[in-house]
Amino acid sequence: MQGRVFSGIQPTSGIHLGNYLGAIRNWVTMQASYDCIYCIVDLHALTALHDPAEMRANTREVAAALLASGIDPARSILFVQSHVPAHPQLAWVFNCVTPMGWLNKMTQFKEKAGKDREGAPVGLFDYPVLQAADILAYKATHVPVGEDQKQHLELSRNIAGAFNRKFGVEFFPLPEPMILGEATRVMSLRDGTKKMSKSDPSEMSRISLVDDADTIALKIRRAKSDSILGIAYDPENRPEASNLLVIYAALAGRPRAEVEAELVSTSFSDFKSRLADLAVAKLSPIAAEMRRIAADPGYIDGVLRDGAARAAAIAAPILAETYRIVGFLEP
Ligand code: TYM
Repeated sequence: MQGRVFSGIQPTSGIHLGNYLGAIRNWVTMQASYDCIYCIVDLHALTALHDPAEMRANTREVAAALLASGIDPARSILFVQSHVPAHPQLAWVFNCVTPMGWLNKMTQFKEKAGKDREGAPVGLFDYPVLQAADILAYKATHVPVGEDQKQHLELSRNIAGAFNRKFGVEFFPLPEPMILGEATRVMSLRDGTKKMSKSDPSEMSRISLVDDADTIALKIRRAKSDSILGIAYDPENRPEASNLLVIYAALAGRPRAEVEAELVSTSFSDFKSRLADLAVAKLSPIAAEMRRIAADPGYIDGVLRDGAARAAAIAAPILAETYRIVGFLEP
């Protein structure tokens, strides 16, 4: 094995194509060559989601999506963040070595807090410190994510370095972000300049992993297009064409340039029907498998319970050593 992978996803309803191509698909591939730990980050979701029934349902839904996508609980650890207390415990230690100024630079906080910074929860501001703790509680070396997590991962590296320097140790590794594949930033189907996101009010802006074949095809047919002949990668001038091209290449598992060469004289509508066929072929089996798994919540809960026990067994001694380094007495 080439190292330890950690990555996380929030329990929000409607995991979408961006999550799948930017992250989950790479998580699946990495199982072959890394020790992988995948986490459903409910503590992070609590910064925005305050409906207990929804939290529970989303957590199981995301677990089903990950299992259906090919995360293998026999090979990898799949668990829920709140089940392993080392995450918030380590986050507190990191809170005490992380300058406020570093968090003030986080663009995601600024976007999510919007104009009402005074009204935003402290947890939202502190969110990236908990993210650093998630990774470093396992001394993970590699973190596969989409492009939007780049800044948070840079911060995780800085926090690891700050801890090591402050206490004169070489304890935490500096984790490497792994932003892989052709579709590291999948854009909205309605506006090629905006990221595909769960918070977009329009369902038509994203393909969800639970969408059936007809819905996937409809969303692609209705996706914003332009009237230039041929499909080319030109994000400045043709953001929608570029986004759909990247999605096509990623789903086909082929280099973008190779696909682009094939599509130089294809009309937008022909391209869309090819893309719809490909998307249905690749995604609808996942949706079907997700429905099958979701019908057995007892199985899901069992996988998550087992995953939490295995995760806790790795994190507990790392947290204990951290406590020893900072000078806490042994209990
Ligand atoms: P979250 O739940 O927003 O997204 C999960 C993963 O999906 C990727 N992603 C995308 N990739 C490409 N195009 C898009 N439009 C797109 N939208 C989302 C994200 O980059 C991410 O990899 N803070 C994290 C969760 C987290 C985490 C961690 C990640 C918590 N602790 C530790 C890594 C390591 C988040 O909110 O992801």
